Amino acid sequence: MTPLLNVKDLRAYYGQVQALHGLSFSLNEGSLTTLLGANGAGKTTTLRAICNMVRSTGAIEFDGKPLNNKSTESIVRFGIAHVPQGRGTFTTMTVEENLQLGAITRTDKAISSDIERMYGYFPKLKERHTQQAGTLSGGEQQMLAVARALMLRPRLMLLDEPSFGLAPLVVRDLFQILGRINRDEKVSILVVEQNAQLALELADQAYVIETGRIVMSGAAKDIAQDENVRKSYLGY
Ligand SMILES: Nc1ncnc2c1ncn2[C@@H]1O[C@H](COP(=O)(O)OP(=O)(O)O)[C@@H](O)[C@H]1O
Ligand SMILES: [Mg+2]
Repeated sequence: MTPLLNVKDLRAYYGQVQALHGLSFSLNEGSLTTLLGANGAGKTTTLRAICNMVRSTGAIEFDGKPLNNKSTESIVRFGIAHVPQGRGTFTTMTVEENLQLGAITRTDKAISSDIERMYGYFPKLKERHTQQAGTLSGGEQQMLAVARALMLRPRLMLLDEPSFGLAPLVVRDLFQILGRINRDEKVSILVVEQNAQLALELADQAYVIETGRIVMSGAAKDIAQDENVRKSYLGY
């Protein structure tokens, strides 16, 4: 089976500084894969490299086709939606305007029914659909960022530390919804996280990244049992 996303020997650079050192991993269609790592390990850079937002070498294939050197916009059109660290919603626009903007690359007529479907996953957003995004709580903003990305009808959603700055209960809620979206919308998901515990509960596959290299990979339930992972990332 051809993986949906196949990354081989990825190296990424900020000027003279090399942040990724030959990183390889893959993700199968339908999977919810997590890439775990400490602060500074290279998680954000990996997602940026997939979206061609940082200089990189190596092979990045999506559905068997090379993504390297494609513009970020054409990568979106291929069906990859990126929810960046810090969420990137338009804070002075309302919830609903953010969702409409999420569908800006689409020309079909299903946009308003998709917005209603997003409100089904995230009822809080429906309650607040006329509210400015900047006035939402952190959890609601993260939900809006995810819903906006889904408005592209992506095949793959890249999520950068969705748990960051959120209370544990809010994270649990959000991750449960991500699991439903993965199953019901058939969207493959790559989520990078420092919060290993919840990410390992959610994901089917996991990779651990340290200083720009993959140091461990396997089924999430096996990685969760690994003694080094437990000590370094789970704290027990
Ligand atoms: N804009 C930048 N300029 C220079 N170095 C950077 C920049 N962004 C990240 N780095 C470096 O690249 C490495 C990986 O960073 P990053 O991908 O942001 O890690 P993570 O998301 O896992 O915390 C770190 O050593 C970081 O200092
Ligand atoms: Mg990061």
